[in-house]
Amino acid sequence: MKRWNVVITGFGTVGKQAARLLAQRQGYYREKYDADVRLVGAVRSTSGLYDVNGLGEEALLEWGAAGKRGDSTFSGCEFLASSHADILIETGPSDLKTGGPGLTYIKQALEQGMHAIAVSKGALVVDYAGLSALAKQKGVNLKISGATAAALPTIDLLQYNFAGCQILGIEGVFTGTTNFVLTKMMEEGITSEEAILRAQQMGIAEPDPSFDIDGWDTACKVTILANAAFDAQVKLSDVSRASVREVTDEQIASWKAAGLTPKLIGSIQKTPQGIKAAVELQAVDAAHPFATVKGTTKAVRVETDVMGELLVIGGKSDPVAAAAAALKDLEHIIRGQRAY
Ligand SMILES: NC(=O)c1ccc[n+]([C@@H]2O[C@H](COP(=O)([O-])OP(=O)(O)OC[C@H]3O[C@@H](n4cnc5c(N)ncnc54)[C@H](OP(=O)(O)O)[C@@H]3O)[C@@H](O)[C@H]2O)c1
Repeated sequence: MKRWNVVITGFGTVGKQAARLLAQRQGYYREKYDADVRLVGAVRSTSGLYDVNGLGEEALLEWGAAGKRGDSTFSGCEFLASSHADILIETGPSDLKTGGPGLTYIKQALEQGMHAIAVSKGALVVDYAGLSALAKQKGVNLKISGATAAALPTIDLLQYNFAGCQILGIEGVFTGTTNFVLTKMMEEGITSEEAILRAQQMGIAEPDPSFDIDGWDTACKVTILANAAFDAQVKLSDVSRASVREVTDEQIASWKAAGLTPKLIGSIQKTPQGIKAAVELQAVDAAHPFATVKGTTKAVRVETDVMGELLVIGGKSDPVAAAAAALKDLEHIIRGQRAY
């Protein structure tokens, strides 16, 4: 039986769910793939836990609880270097300017021949091309489902299902929170502030909702997808961006009167001038498939040269789904599927 040692960097909401699902699926991996998958290390901002035989649930729970600190010697890149793990799952903060700790961890992991699974977006936004080249050079995978709409298949759809096709363009409702806010404004006639507050009360929006509401989350996803699936060199600053905060009551009233539905749409198009990525507020008519995409539901529509158009709607938008997307990547690695 092949042994797979896993390390998780960032042990917050998503990291903890990834550890929980991993523990739950150990028997399944053994039976289905003859694979002994163990979480041997986890790292938070100032401490970590490590056990070469696999971390027990109790130790993880205690350490993961707020205020509990583990061993401060198990932190940072030195820890990663000495862990001798096979797979890194990166679920730390998304720093869009520098790539943050995620960029350092992913680089270090790839350098030492580990596969890397990114759920955080910072490293991918800042240097997807560099990381992808490094992964290829080392013969390992860099997988990014968790960072590119998670439960909604986007990168797998583009890299596997349309292999050999030319992707002419994609558009999507990539952020559940913004779609929830727009849906509530349309259906209940409440203001954007009220709808954002509602989303926060329901745990859908973060205490600081700007990352989602102001279009950054969608802009990150289209930047990463453009670079990963179209081999483009799009920078986050190249992507035009719209905010749901700007939507007024008057706009809502006029869209309702005209039978239109507002959506925050991220798009990537092949144009004669090159790849164009954008995040726009669009009012779509009832015939548009995104008109029926309500609440936190997401959707993606892909146009290809010879396979025609494909539409996918659905996928949960929550930390469990994000962790599950990372484990989908892990399973593809165990099966030996290489991402290019
Ligand atoms: N939440 C979602 O549904 C979702 C969905 C898709 C993608 N994501 C992305 O996934 C990432 C994690 O999200 P989350 O909601 O789990 O965030 P979170 O709850 O804030 O957790 C972040 C974790 O990162 C740790 N951290 C901070 N600096 C670190 C460092 N230098 N080294 C190692 N760990 C460090 C924190 O440590 P402490 O515990 O010590 O503070 C914390 O455990 C984010 O980048 C987010 O954009 C989230």
